[in-house]
Amino acid sequence: MWPNLLMYLLFLALPHKSAAYQVLHLADFHLDIEYSINGDNQKMCHDDGQKRNKTLGPFGDYMCDAPKPLIQHAIDESARLFPNPDLIIWTGDNVAHIDGYGWEVVLDAVNQTTSLLFSRFPNQTILPTFGNHDYAPSNGFESDSSLYTKTWELWKGKLGDENKATFLQGGYYKYRLPNATAVVLNTNLYYSANKAYVNFTNKADPADQFAFLETELAKAEKCPNRISDNCTSLVHIIAHIAPGVFEKSPNITWFRDEYNERFLNLTIRYANSIGWMIFGHHHTDTFHLIKDPLENVVQLAYMSPAVTPWFSDLPGAGANNPTFRVYETDVYSKIEDIKTYYINLDELNKNASTPFVFEYSFKDAYGITGDITPSTMSDVLEKMKTDDKLFMKYIDYNTAYWNPVMPVQEYRGAQLCSMEYADYPRYYTCLSKYTKFSDSSLKLPIFSLLAILYTEFLL
Ligand SMILES: *[C@@H]1O[C@H](CO)[C@@H](O)[C@H](O)[C@H]1NC(C)=O
Ligand SMILES: *[C@@H]1O[C@H](CO)[C@@H](O)[C@H](O)[C@H]1NC(C)=O
Ligand SMILES: *[C@@H]1O[C@H](CO)[C@@H](O)[C@H](O)[C@H]1NC(C)=O
Ligand SMILES: *[C@@H]1O[C@H](CO)[C@@H](O)[C@H](O)[C@H]1NC(C)=O
Ligand SMILES: *[C@@H]1O[C@H](CO)[C@@H](O)[C@H](O)[C@H]1NC(C)=O
Ligand SMILES: *[C@@H]1O[C@H](CO)[C@@H](O)[C@H](O)[C@H]1NC(C)=O
Ligand SMILES: *[C@@H]1O[C@H](CO)[C@@H](O)[C@H](O)[C@H]1NC(C)=O
Ligand SMILES: *[C@@H]1O[C@H](CO)[C@@H](O)[C@H](O)[C@H]1NC(C)=O
Ligand SMILES: *[C@@H]1O[C@H](CO)[C@@H](O)[C@H](O)[C@H]1NC(C)=O
Repeated sequence: MWPNLLMYLLFLALPHKSAAYQVLHLADFHLDIEYSINGDNQKMCHDDGQKRNKTLGPFGDYMCDAPKPLIQHAIDESARLFPNPDLIIWTGDNVAHIDGYGWEVVLDAVNQTTSLLFSRFPNQTILPTFGNHDYAPSNGFESDSSLYTKTWELWKGKLGDENKATFLQGGYYKYRLPNATAVVLNTNLYYSANKAYVNFTNKADPADQFAFLETELAKAEKCPNRISDNCTSLVHIIAHIAPGVFEKSPNITWFRDEYNERFLNLTIRYANSIGWMIFGHHHTDTFHLIKDPLENVVQLAYMSPAVTPWFSDLPGAGANNPTFRVYETDVYSKIEDIKTYYINLDELNKNASTPFVFEYSFKDAYGITGDITPSTMSDVLEKMKTDDKLFMKYIDYNTAYWNPVMPVQEYRGAQLCSMEYADYPRYYTCLSKYTKFSDSSLKLPIFSLLAILYTEFLL
């Protein structure tokens, strides 16, 4: 009894520093090596040889992708604020939104971002993956690509030999964490803009990645204790593109229909064996509930906002302030809080010493008591539908305060329906309840057409 009491008193006396397991997430760098302060910000800030009266900011421009100093600053600042994170996840898209580049550009961008990140965090576990732009041509991911062989050389030290086979086959792998298994997927294979689809030999399961995911989930379900030598009862899913729909533009979906359905079917079937589901790609800060056919909320996917500020032409989209975030989890891998940090790009361009600052805590902002779970976030979403103050808070964070505007009509629907339904059929039904936006000044048809013709403009 005495030792217990002593322990208890000791516990009370200790500072209540969060014992959380810290997961630092850096998303969507989009390094543009051609960024120039003499560039044209209507042309990706590339120098076109013309003289201009006003130069662009050395750390970037809201119309364009990130120059190296911005990425360096984001990584330095994440290391200043979190010198010793337990885990770093890095969900890809290292190449800029440019056309017609070759493999040299992809490999150079990936190598440069790898060097920046690995040299700042030499002793940390870092789990990298690819974004749809980390390919030449962009989006064209296939199995057995030379990309996997080349990047394996850069990353094998972090990933370990046991992952070589799946990595070379499809750019995916798993990683044993203390109390769970991270499954890091190459979901670019499922992207509807992936033109290599015509060449997939196994269209039902490109690179056998679904089979791999299902095997890991089934193993977790059967794992006798929470943790054993050869299994864990939780699998965390990490990837660039998430299942579900873009929240800022009505009807912009990512995965091909059948892949979205298969991914969600697996998520629903094994919901109890899945811990976190963390993605990038949107550049914005949002989440998706995942509901089973009976409308029970069974899982939750987070989209972390980007480092690049790049302005997306998709209807209703735009730019964002640069960000990174930390997921704080407990020993059972439950997410206790998510803390996002951001920088105002205009301020940084005026003063190179501007720090990244705390933007918000999920838990505080959304008034969550206890852990962040699918059911608490479902309650938050229900509240957002009628509480404009709460919804506006979400909109502020959605772009890290870049031009936050309360969305109306189908743009409001796009946001709320994207959060509520990751499956397309129920999303479409949900969206159909909102009236079409009719401001002709937005030139919606032209932008939609452009988006269809030039998928390079997609995120
Ligand atoms: C640039 O500055 C010159 C001289 O001050 C001025 O004549 C010209 O109109 C300016 N050009 C633009 C595009 O602002
Ligand atoms: C990657 O970058 C490092 C240091 O920045 C350089 O030494 C190396 O040659 C580069 N490798 C490739 C494959 O570009
Ligand atoms: C990383 O680990 C090595 C060897 O343990 C140590 O010498 C070095 O100081 C560590 N670096 C950092 C940044 O913690
Ligand atoms: C499909 O494969 C053929 C033969 O390797 C190749 O020439 C073609 O570019 C590929 N198509 C796409 C869209 O990747
Ligand atoms: C783990 O190992 C135990 C005993 O070594 C074995 O009985 C069990 O089937 C293994 N489980 C998995 C999922 O491989
Ligand atoms: C969204 O797409 C679905 C399926 O293609 C279509 O039925 C629906 O009319 C579209 N809704 C809007 C608002 O464009
Ligand atoms: C998803 O599950 C439903 C039944 O719940 C089934 O009808 C459908 O065929 C599955 N879809 C895919 C792509 O596996
Ligand atoms: C893993 O779980 C055990 C209890 O099962 C706990 O003591 C330990 O701190 C956990 N490790 C991490 C890193 O969460
Ligand atoms: C630049 O920012 C730093 C950090 O916030 C501050 O200490 C410094 O005074 C600023 N410099 C100027 C010229 O505003």
